Amino acid sequence: MSNDFEVAALAARFPSGFAWGAATSSYQVEGSTTADGRGQSIWDTFVSEPGRVVDGSNGDKAIDSYHNIEGDVALVGELGLNSYRFSLSWPRICPDGDGKVNRAGLDYYSALVDALLEQGITPWVTLYHWDLPQALENGGGWPKRDTAERFGEFAQIAHQALGDRVKRWITVNEPWCAAFLGYSSGEHAPGRREPAASIAAAHHLMLGHGLAARAIKEAEPDATVSIGLNFYPVYAASDAPVDVDAARRIDGVQNRWFTDAALKGAYPEDIVDDFTAVTDFSFVEVGDMEVINAPLDCLSVNYYSQYTVTGREGGAVSASAAPTGAGSPWPANEHVGFMTTGLPQTDMGWEIAPEGLSETLRRLHANYPDVTLAVTENGAAFPDKLVEDQVADSERLDYVREHLGACADAVEAGVPLIGYFAWSLADNFEWAWGYTKRFGLVYVDFETGQRVVKDSGKWYCDLVRTARSNGEAK
Ligand code: FCB
Repeated sequence: MSNDFEVAALAARFPSGFAWGAATSSYQVEGSTTADGRGQSIWDTFVSEPGRVVDGSNGDKAIDSYHNIEGDVALVGELGLNSYRFSLSWPRICPDGDGKVNRAGLDYYSALVDALLEQGITPWVTLYHWDLPQALENGGGWPKRDTAERFGEFAQIAHQALGDRVKRWITVNEPWCAAFLGYSSGEHAPGRREPAASIAAAHHLMLGHGLAARAIKEAEPDATVSIGLNFYPVYAASDAPVDVDAARRIDGVQNRWFTDAALKGAYPEDIVDDFTAVTDFSFVEVGDMEVINAPLDCLSVNYYSQYTVTGREGGAVSASAAPTGAGSPWPANEHVGFMTTGLPQTDMGWEIAPEGLSETLRRLHANYPDVTLAVTENGAAFPDKLVEDQVADSERLDYVREHLGACADAVEAGVPLIGYFAWSLADNFEWAWGYTKRFGLVYVDFETGQRVVKDSGKWYCDLVRTARSNGEAK
């Protein structure tokens, strides 16, 4: 446990005007999946299929945020945060994924935005955090170009309704997961196992990003537009060429594929070569890369862990050491093993590697110097216990403290970091892990919905209040 002196010293390392936040996503917290005209999403379908979610649960109720605007916003305020990142459920707003709008869906988000602004909290809105309208999946989903075009329209609809109050937009969250866990390993909705289609899906997610970015910037040049990508430093298990090549491939797919497309307007050549084994790229049309290369104001960095990989078949592989799906059966992952290095792990089996975050931020800034950065997700699952109104989650507290230290290191190294968002505001539905993994700063009793701020949340609040009062004094 750290003391007041440590908190003050850490707080002093952040610039004034920094965005201090926590993040959630629609399907993970809202519940009310059939209320007020919401259409079906691919996650509603996926969770209804036996064996998809470890505890057989679903997001029908989640943590009932749909009925709890006041409570959720009060929590964000209680934690002292000046920013809150949440996502829009596309099928709540456009039930069939086309231009037909469900007013009640927009009204919900409009009320949420108003409630945040009343408390002086800046909304950071993600347009796509994986809940694709099922109607679009029925038409082929992300492997089809049409889905990207519909997404561009959706961005326009969302901006028209909320853009007078929302100034920070994140187009797509983690297209790596949406494409490869959704369409290749099948661990996420829609649960397809089609490697070639997953590469087309990745392209159309990026095209959708570009179309959305363009729509928002055309309507409002001053809006801050971003894309949310998940980054991992990737280390080779040894100097052996086979391991070094495995690291190149995983780094290429995980880190360079999406950033090079968005910020350089080209996919990395070496990974294009790897992928030609399974796809001819006929889905890439003339002009697509320019759209994907739409001007970005900020790059949203989601960071959890690091990878150490081997290309040796039968090498000391521990699939559980890798975040979900890292060893997914798609071509570029062939013969790549993810290894444990002995570092402490979270309840997901993810290695705790805070210095990897400062390394990631420094590397991104070196490679893409023109864009500001924000850490829009960072956090850890641990098996928390509520004991007499207290959740003594010292491991999460240490995790958050160490990663914020890594952010401060990056700031001091000259990285233009503008914010930090803990994942997550509160325990919620963790995708294929259901309710078995708790990531919140706030504990949620999934039966009663009761919320209790964990020790990590109290510590974070202390830090944020100190940093914000420094900022005001400066
Ligand atoms: C990220 C997701 C987020 C949550 C965390 C733990 O990949 O964006 O929704 O599941 O992992």
